[in-house]
Amino acid sequence: MTRAVHAYASRLTDRLVEKGVLAPTGPLTDAFRRVDRGVFVPAFALYEHTPEGTRYRLLRGDVPEQREEWGSHVYADETLIIEVKGKPILEALPHGTGKGRCTSSSTMPGLMAQILNELDLDGDPRVLEIGVGSGYNAAILSECLGSDRVTSIDISPRLVSDAAERLTGSGYHPIVAEYDGHKGYPDRAPYDRIISTTAFTHVPPAWLDQVASGGLILVNIAGGTGGAMLILKVGEDGTAQGRFLPEWAGFMPARSHDPRLRTSVDDEGTSSETSLDPALLRDLAFAFVAQLATVDADNVLRTADDGTDFLSMEGRDGAWAEVDIEPARGGRFQVMQGGPRRLWTMVEAAHRWWVGHGEPDWSAFGATVTPEEQFVWHDSPVDGHRWSLV
Ligand SMILES: C[S@@+](CC[C@H](N)C(=O)[O-])C[C@H]1O[C@@H](n2cnc3c(N)ncnc32)[C@H](O)[C@@H]1O
Repeated sequence: MTRAVHAYASRLTDRLVEKGVLAPTGPLTDAFRRVDRGVFVPAFALYEHTPEGTRYRLLRGDVPEQREEWGSHVYADETLIIEVKGKPILEALPHGTGKGRCTSSSTMPGLMAQILNELDLDGDPRVLEIGVGSGYNAAILSECLGSDRVTSIDISPRLVSDAAERLTGSGYHPIVAEYDGHKGYPDRAPYDRIISTTAFTHVPPAWLDQVASGGLILVNIAGGTGGAMLILKVGEDGTAQGRFLPEWAGFMPARSHDPRLRTSVDDEGTSSETSLDPALLRDLAFAFVAQLATVDADNVLRTADDGTDFLSMEGRDGAWAEVDIEPARGGRFQVMQGGPRRLWTMVEAAHRWWVGHGEPDWSAFGATVTPEEQFVWHDSPVDGHRWSLV
């Protein structure tokens, strides 16, 4: 069934064409013109960062005084927050403002267009989307490929039911299910494409079994420190290989129902100094390599009781490191670290490697995934330097 072009969606599409992320014509461009984002994002929250944390303000399309402002964001190339603290935005912000952790958003349409282009939708592939969120991307996929080619899952039951209702109401009937993307979605396998709109620290092994030979997997591989978008092609032998995309993008981390077991190490640690400024981790290219070196470690900025800011890293094995953000006398930064791995020492080694190899960004790296192992490589899968992902 061919749907009419939607006026506001069409204007948004024109902007994406101007930006160069959509071709002037073609099935994907047509799909963006026909799917009304406003149906899938009837309300969302804008946010600002304050010293007390992120503060949200609700905007609803069904409130006459807010409709114009709502439309100016919905039909713009913006990420829109639709779930906070695991609750749909209307429930999470009953009084129109509030705080809490963002747990779902409708992705920037420009980024959606970019990754859907990378996914290569020619030949009507069967697609599994991980992270249905608002359902907008599932609607674009259904418009492009036909609903029967599309399956979309999410770990959040309320998002699933809301998205399914809006998809049905718009005449799309993909399979939408509540399921943890770590397991893929075996019921509808095999797929020709898996696209994840949530980030994973590694490629969930179940995905390999669910993608047909020649199929593609597109996923943001990222952890506490850095990451990038990876596209893998699945070979006849059931292993997958590919490279990180040149264009950087990041998605929110995947959630899980499994409690993450953490070991706590009560050692005093050792004190040292470093000449490596922790602010360098803001460089996306270096952060990518530091992530490979420290794998599972979280990385957060904290403030000590005396008001000084420090970087705090902690691995699942209890390894920990704390690095002052402000240098001490002599321009060096104070470090404390302990546990079974010296995390900051690993970051320093990663920095030496990175500088020694000409400060490459993520596009110089690729990954190989087999049922037994998965690793990221630099330059070449055969003789390039390797980092294990799991
Ligand atoms: C950026 S949003 C997805 C945007 C969505 N594609 C859209 O068009 O609105 C990421 C989604 O991933 C979901 N998610 C997080 N962890 C997940 C998991 N383990 N399995 C499935 N979905 C997950 C979140 O609930 C969230 O809705």
